[in-house]
Amino acid sequence: MEKIAIIGAGRVGESTAQFLAKNDTCRELVLLDVREGAAEGAALDIQETAPLFGFDTRLKGGTDAAILSGAELVVITAGIPRKPGMSRSDVLDTNVAILDKLVDGIMEHAPDAMLLLVSNPVDVLTYRAWQRTGWPRNRVFGQAGVLDSSRMASFVALETGLSVNDINAMVLGGHGDSMVPMLRYSTINGIPVRHFLSEEAIARIVERTRHGGAEILALKQTSSAYDAPAAAIAAMVDAIALDRKRVLPTVALLEGEYGERDVAMGVPCILGRNGVESVIELPLEPSERKEFDQSLAGVRNDINRLK
Ligand code: LAC
Repeated sequence: MEKIAIIGAGRVGESTAQFLAKNDTCRELVLLDVREGAAEGAALDIQETAPLFGFDTRLKGGTDAAILSGAELVVITAGIPRKPGMSRSDVLDTNVAILDKLVDGIMEHAPDAMLLLVSNPVDVLTYRAWQRTGWPRNRVFGQAGVLDSSRMASFVALETGLSVNDINAMVLGGHGDSMVPMLRYSTINGIPVRHFLSEEAIARIVERTRHGGAEILALKQTSSAYDAPAAAIAAMVDAIALDRKRVLPTVALLEGEYGERDVAMGVPCILGRNGVESVIELPLEPSERKEFDQSLAGVRNDINRLK
């Protein structure tokens, strides 16, 4: 890819820029932040690691949305993070107002870009960006499930003692406490995780995955997670920039899949050069469907607050 932009030079934005630069994912990487000097400083700091890591990405930072011009992919991390005890929905009103302004700037300066939403509540903000741009859903999507699945896979590795290289976990639904860890589709080299884990261990993993973000926040107190979120974003960007056609859980607009429309939520998608190239509709068992519906109801509830 030629040019990627990251909006928000906070911890998630800066860490994402580090990963993308280090991977030589694009030729030009720009950071935009409203805080004077924040994006510029982060970009320069990362640029100065290039000789050590050997990447040729050129970084630039600024406060003017004109910097987005020509970006093929814009990652949106800007917004206020939640504080300990808050839910992701508690930051909705503030972050919608921030997003609306950003989206207008993107439409003006990078009208052909794809948007990868990261700020919370991510399902709702993905919906909002899609609604406000009027762009097709392949170009407007969000990151949640790659992070949640990576957390789940980490916990499976910790509980079993087995290598993460063989572990595949899948988490669907909204990025909230009612997200849906899909045990049937979580495997260790193709063998369902249930073969290796007791019911108690599985319950612990599910619980810890659902509250993965809150666990980090409660420990750090002054910061949400950013290492794993940034790595998850980088994995999605890599799939798109290199047209890998990876199957990754993605916050996508549903257009009849799972019997739903006019809502965005985490579902498996094929990610390639055109963004969300297709949404995969998995058959769900009644208990999975029930959890999926609960998660969906939570997202819809927040979406209705926008209307
Ligand atoms: C998390 C927050 C950032 O899951 O949503 O860590």
